[in-house]
Amino acid sequence: MSTKHRVIFGNCMSMEELPDNYCHLMVTSPPYFNAPFDYEGFFKSYDTFLTMIEKFATETYRVLQEGRVAVVNVDDMLINGEKYPIIADTIKIFQKSGFRYRDKIVWKKPDGYLRISKRSGVLLQNPFPMYFYPDNLLESILIFQKGKFDYRNIKKEIKEKSRVDKEEFQKNKWYMTLWEMTNVLPGSRLEKNIAAFPDELPYRFIKLFSYKGEIILDPFLGSGTTMKVARKLERNSIGFEINRDLETVIREKAGFINADNIKEGDTFEVSERSEGKYRYINYEIIEEIKNKNN
Ligand SMILES: C[S@@+](CC[C@H](N)C(=O)[O-])C[C@H]1O[C@@H](n2cnc3c(N)ncnc32)[C@H](O)[C@@H]1O
Repeated sequence: MSTKHRVIFGNCMSMEELPDNYCHLMVTSPPYFNAPFDYEGFFKSYDTFLTMIEKFATETYRVLQEGRVAVVNVDDMLINGEKYPIIADTIKIFQKSGFRYRDKIVWKKPDGYLRISKRSGVLLQNPFPMYFYPDNLLESILIFQKGKFDYRNIKKEIKEKSRVDKEEFQKNKWYMTLWEMTNVLPGSRLEKNIAAFPDELPYRFIKLFSYKGEIILDPFLGSGTTMKVARKLERNSIGFEINRDLETVIREKAGFINADNIKEGDTFEVSERSEGKYRYINYEIIEEIKNKNN
């Protein structure tokens, strides 16, 4: 089955290129609110960040088909000793946008793969009360649904082709709300400066919540992980990305660098919004924004 993949360089607070009720599944990971290393100073305030989440949620609701699912990988963010309740706020915002909050998967990373410094070491140096700073190995994956899914709308043949492998489901414990998945190592070539999620994350959700030939949306495409996996699983994909400089990375990750892939019949299309409030930016502008806000 050949598939189509489309990248739109622009801000996903507007998804004006897409008609209503168009996509079958949304899987994404928004930028972490002013995360040290990745996004320090990117958002002027927590309210600015929440406004972005609100617009992205409203647009996602509009472009998703009835009965379909939105998957958002988020985490509370610790900045200067204060934890921002991003998970709770995202749930509330998605509910306000019309979604039903269905489930939360807790993603546990392997013990040895800590990205940020080992804060817990503070207690080992000062083994007294009030020196407790735990290391965070968890992220949340929130599952929302727009209305009710009508199982009768799926053709028998497509349903059969999209079967979930029961052995994989059981062996890798997809049935629990705790998923152990290895994260992308910081400094990996294609994911440099992008807080990418591992292929395994969109892989599980695309298999669990979409059928072959459907359209998968990722409004914060980053390095293109969702697109790569959607293609592998014979789904079409659409990604929004604000950073214009990521085209080559996305092309390479999704396998559209050389002519061989084009022979397979799959297509890759790029469009961009160079003007208006929700236009694309690039690394240079991102640095300017961070410097201005810091
Ligand atoms: C956490 S990363 C996503 C990484 C992606 N899941 C991957 O595996 O590569 C968030 C991405 O969203 C982009 N971004 C930030 N704000 C955006 C916006 N308003 N609209 C579209 N993209 C945005 C960032 O440039 C970054 O590439």
